[in-house]
Amino acid sequence: MAKFGFVLHPLSVEDIKSHISFAKHLPDRLVEWGGKYSSPYIGAHVTGVRSLTGKEIEGWFAVIPMTPRMMMQNQDYAVKQIIKAGKLLEKEGAQIMGLGAYTSVVGDAGITIAKALDIGVTTGNSYTAYTAGEALLLAAKEIGVDPKNSTLTVVGATGSIGSVLSKILAPQVGKMLLVARNVDRLSSLADTLKAYNVDYTNSISDAVKQADLLITVSSSPEAIIDADDLQPGTIIVDVSRPRNVAEEVASKRTDVLVLDGGIVKVPGDVEFNFNFGFEPKTAYACMSETMMLALEDWTTDFSLGRDLKEEQVLLTGQWAKKHGFEVIWMRSFDRPVTKEQLDKIKAIRRVS
Ligand SMILES: NC(=O)c1ccc[n+]([C@@H]2O[C@H](COP(=O)([O-])OP(=O)(O)OC[C@H]3O[C@@H](n4cnc5c(N)ncnc54)[C@H](OP(=O)(O)O)[C@@H]3O)[C@@H](O)[C@H]2O)c1
Repeated sequence: MAKFGFVLHPLSVEDIKSHISFAKHLPDRLVEWGGKYSSPYIGAHVTGVRSLTGKEIEGWFAVIPMTPRMMMQNQDYAVKQIIKAGKLLEKEGAQIMGLGAYTSVVGDAGITIAKALDIGVTTGNSYTAYTAGEALLLAAKEIGVDPKNSTLTVVGATGSIGSVLSKILAPQVGKMLLVARNVDRLSSLADTLKAYNVDYTNSISDAVKQADLLITVSSSPEAIIDADDLQPGTIIVDVSRPRNVAEEVASKRTDVLVLDGGIVKVPGDVEFNFNFGFEPKTAYACMSETMMLALEDWTTDFSLGRDLKEEQVLLTGQWAKKHGFEVIWMRSFDRPVTKEQLDKIKAIRRVS
């Protein structure tokens, strides 16, 4: 049976406290510091992933107890910890390894990690990009919004996921606004998209104010989308983990639709044996890409670095159909989107 490994880490101090009972009573700083100096460990054995083709795989989660903030502040150290986690997964027999959340953001997006290991490595960012685009277009269709008459803002546009997604979506929307902090990288990306109506800015606020559609996929460890900048009726797909859209937006702005990006239903009777806060049988898109690679018997590197190819992304979409992985787009802040929410956004979009 083909075997995969996947590296996870807590998204917040609360996350660590929810998994380790004695940590609940300790100050946050101490918990984060303790996590940084803890060794990676195997957190779960994953069973029951079964493709529509009938093929089954199994896998393991390795955990690095570092928060996004700790990882971003100690990138070289974090990369070393990820390599240690990879060695644990190699020992379990994994042939391909995926990098979850910030384990793919630190350093050079997986390249150094892949060189240090004997198994194939992927960030999982190709299928993450695919599902983000798919979720946005499905939501636009459901609400009755024509992307060709819409402005799409992409926050984190120059990143690994953001840049390939911008290239795929630019021909499909009326106007695209690329957003990040580094203007030189924005300008280079915009140059590759000259054939389309594309502009760029380092002002998140300006770009969010103009958005009918918004994908946010930055590596900011804090929320960066200001609720007051959103126009009524905006459809948002938040792929970032930790989220770029603060949960308070859900209560403060019931006139916008904030969708959880990068969430996928996994085929078979999968048991993750690990609580990452999702419904049963659902996983992050990056995990799903890793599982699909195992189903394809793919044992060499796949999505690495910050210049992913559109063909790679489209290939993951084909694999998803073949094996039965399905994007889940109707969720907002870990809860199902209700008919009332959809009707409200539809009504706003009809009058605007
Ligand atoms: N849901 C899933 O399955 C899934 C899978 C993989 C990754 N993710 C998440 O997706 C996010 C992005 O991952 P990635 O690998 O594409 O990261 P990346 O390659 O490091 O790119 C990050 C992008 O965000 C921009 N950025 C960072 N901080 C910013 C800020 N404060 N304001 C505006 N832009 C900012 C960066 O450009 P500048 O530095 O120039 O600002 C860059 O464009 C992460 O949160 C990751 O955890 C989710």
